[in-house]
Amino acid sequence: MAEAVPVVTIDGPSGSGKGTVAAEVARRLGWRVLDSGALYRLTAYAARQAGVDFDDAGAVAAIARALPVEFRDGRVLLDGEDVTAAIRTETAGNDASKVAAIPEVREALLQWQRDYARPPGLVADGRDMGTVVFPDAQVKIFLDASAGERARRRHKQLKEQGIDVNLPGLIAEIEERDHRDRNRSVAPLKPAPDAEVIDSTRMSVEEVVDLVLGRVAKAFPGVVT
Ligand code: C5P
Repeated sequence: MAEAVPVVTIDGPSGSGKGTVAAEVARRLGWRVLDSGALYRLTAYAARQAGVDFDDAGAVAAIARALPVEFRDGRVLLDGEDVTAAIRTETAGNDASKVAAIPEVREALLQWQRDYARPPGLVADGRDMGTVVFPDAQVKIFLDASAGERARRRHKQLKEQGIDVNLPGLIAEIEERDHRDRNRSVAPLKPAPDAEVIDSTRMSVEEVVDLVLGRVAKAFPGVVT
């Protein structure tokens, strides 16, 4: 039964550091990790490749339902093509937030995400992990940070990958994406009523990881060593 599996949800806006934190928490626990944003990014990427208009909800949902995706050794393959880097661009993130506003697309990806909850446990990162996908999760975190700080982190990350973007443009893009994610009618970005909100603006990744592991230790005694 899915509820019997320990689940930690980490939701929050883009650039809040939740992906990094979720991966590290999962590594420390030896649990699986669900990067739910990747599924929306893949859907948007595949729709673009197929020449499907994002306004065609039925066609985009059909793509989401039958994504020929494979996660192998940290790489993401779409129909055999390595799209690991292609789905990480700002355009891919923006496209993802457009298809993510389509209720049929969210419905198509729901069971797939729930199926990730398998022993020994799952750390799920996204926007609606604690509100919609895993409402019974025992530990729910909502990770936030100021828009400026989130843009600075993203800028640093892109620079490390050799991608140069201007900071004011990035701030504008992040704000636009957040606005769309927070105001959509289905599964909007917001903390679950029982989530702990953490403002990571002045915190290091290690500090946030330790805080989350502390919550896990409390919820599942004996799991954190
Ligand atoms: O987290 P990431 O930046 O990869 O997410 C890309 C986009 O996918 C988000 O801006 C959001 O619109 C969408 N998303 C979502 N629900 C999730 C995860 C991501 O709507 N659980």
